[in-house]
Formats: sequence, C-alpha cells, structure tokens
Amino acid sequence: MDLGLTEKRAVVAASSAGLGLACAAELAREGAEVVLNGRDERRLEAAAERLRDETGGSVRHVAADLGTGAGRAALLAACPDPDILVTNNGGPPPRDFRDLDDAAIRAGLEANMVAPLALIRAVLPGMADRGFGRIVNITSVSVLLPLAGLDLSSGARAGLTAFLAGVARQYAGRNVTVNNLLPGKIATGRLEAVVAAQAGDGDAAAERARQEAAIPAGRFGTPAEFAHACAMLCAARAGYLTGQNILVDGGLYPSAF
Ligand SMILES: NC(=O)c1ccc[n+]([C@@H]2O[C@H](COP(=O)([O-])OP(=O)(O)OC[C@H]3O[C@@H](n4cnc5c(N)ncnc54)[C@H](OP(=O)(O)O)[C@@H]3O)[C@@H](O)[C@H]2O)c1
Repeated sequence: MDLGLTEKRAVVAASSAGLGLACAAELAREGAEVVLNGRDERRLEAAAERLRDETGGSVRHVAADLGTGAGRAALLAACPDPDILVTNNGGPPPRDFRDLDDAAIRAGLEANMVAPLALIRAVLPGMADRGFGRIVNITSVSVLLPLAGLDLSSGARAGLTAFLAGVARQYAGRNVTVNNLLPGKIATGRLEAVVAAQAGDGDAAAERARQEAAIPAGRFGTPAEFAHACAMLCAARAGYLTGQNILVDGGLYPSAF
C-alpha cells in the first residue's frame, strides 16, 4: 500500500537508536525526508549515514538534548514546518517511587510530558494552516498497565495522553491527527537494560525468557514491527484516525477494549 509519504517532511525526536530510529527508517523507506535527533553526535551521524545508504532518501540529523528549550528549538530549526512529528525521548530509569525526590519527578515530567508538548505546540498551528499533519507520540503500555518501578514514566505519559486528547479533537477538522503509540516490550537497548535491572543479581537471560513467556505472542516485539504501526498512523489516508492509543504489545495488555 502506498502510504502517500513521498517528500513529506518528518521530524523524529530521540531517534539515533531504538524505537525512534526504527520509526525514522520506516518513514524514510516510504519516501519521507527525515530529521533524526539524539544527544550523541557520533551515534547520530552513523545512524543517518546508514539510513541514507539504505533508503537513498534525505536524512539529516540534529544533535540536541530534548530536555532543554534550546535543544528543542535547535531540532525544529532544522525543519520548522514538518508534515510529520514523532515525539519520543529517553525514559526514566526504573526506580521505586520512594527513591524519587522532587527534582527527579520534575525531570521525568519534563522529559516525557513537557518536551513532547513543547514540540507539538510549535508545529501544530502550521500543520493546520497547511491542511496536513501527523503527530505520533511514543508513550508506553505503562499508561494503562502499572509496571513496577516505572511509576514516573506512567504518570508523565498519562498526563501527556490526557492533555492531547482534547488537542486532537481541536485539530481533527484540519487533517491534523494526534495519536499515541504504546509499546509493550520491544527489543531495544533500553528494554534489555530494564530487563537486566529487573534480574538484579540473577540471570538476565532467564528473566528475559520469563517475561517473553508472559506475553501472548511469546516474544518481545521488534523495533521494525513497532515502526510499521507508526508509518500507518502517518499515512496520507489515515486522516480520520485521531485521538487514539494504539498498543503494539503482542497482546500483553489484557482487555476487550
Ligand atoms: N522498548 C520498549 O519496549 C519500550 C516500552 C515502553 C516504553 N518505551 C519508551 O519508549 C521510548 C524509547 O525507548 P527505546 O527502547 O527506543 O529507548 P533507547 O533504545 O534507549 O533509545 C532512546 C533514544 O532516545 C535518545 N535520547 C535519550 N535522551 C534524549 C534526550 N534528552 N534528547 C534527545 N535524545 C535523547 C537516545 O539517544 P542519546 O542517548 O544519544 O541521546 C536514543 O536515540 C522511551 O521513552 C521508553 O521509555 C519503550
């Protein structure tokens, strides 16, 4: 299916690795012009070069920390009028909520709620004026399913989700969609680190196998599977799909609706 993304301009936040990189790669394969982002210039440059080689498309990169206003401004300066914005960021390390002081809680809210909102606020009016926009927020199954040690992640992303529920409706008539993509357990560097932390002094491979067995699909997802859902949400023909939370979790979250 042609997703109609040829020459669409896409900004993918936090995309030098993991889910963000996979989404950027899928959009580039579909013909979009992509801007990658991360803090590590060398890792970012290598990722951009790989994507250019693989897709032959336009792939630029901006090394910038999304945790700062200056970093977010630098990212958008490279592409002030994107057609597609995928918001993403690093997630807080797993920690018992009693160990989170006020500063840690504020940093978590900044990373996973304030930063995506700031990017969205900057690009949404232009998308509406041009009559096309696709915003996809990478959130988490933890918005729906409490996960031990990830309370800060759950809270910040739930705040983002609730905030944007109204915004999505406000712009639905302008062919601008705002959707959230909820990864369950997708095999990235971060997930491996989380699993290793959860294993503690035990065997990380055994912990991984235990967690995979608890997923109806029987395995962790791949970043490419996640990215496929992202590209579908960005499709030109997906203009009537907005304000939704789409799980990509192999059936992990057990619900009828
Ligand atoms: N993987 C999963 O199964 C899963 C499940 C639920 C939720 N999530 C959430 O999805 C998001 C992505 O996860 P992932 O697994 O793809 O993580 P990852 O493999 O660790 O990749 C994170 C990416 O974000 C970049 N990044 C981190 N902090 C940044 C900052 N302040 N400014 C700019 N870029 C930044 C990293 O590059 P640099 O470090 O070089 O900056 C890297 O490119 C996280 O918020 C995670 O909590 C993931």
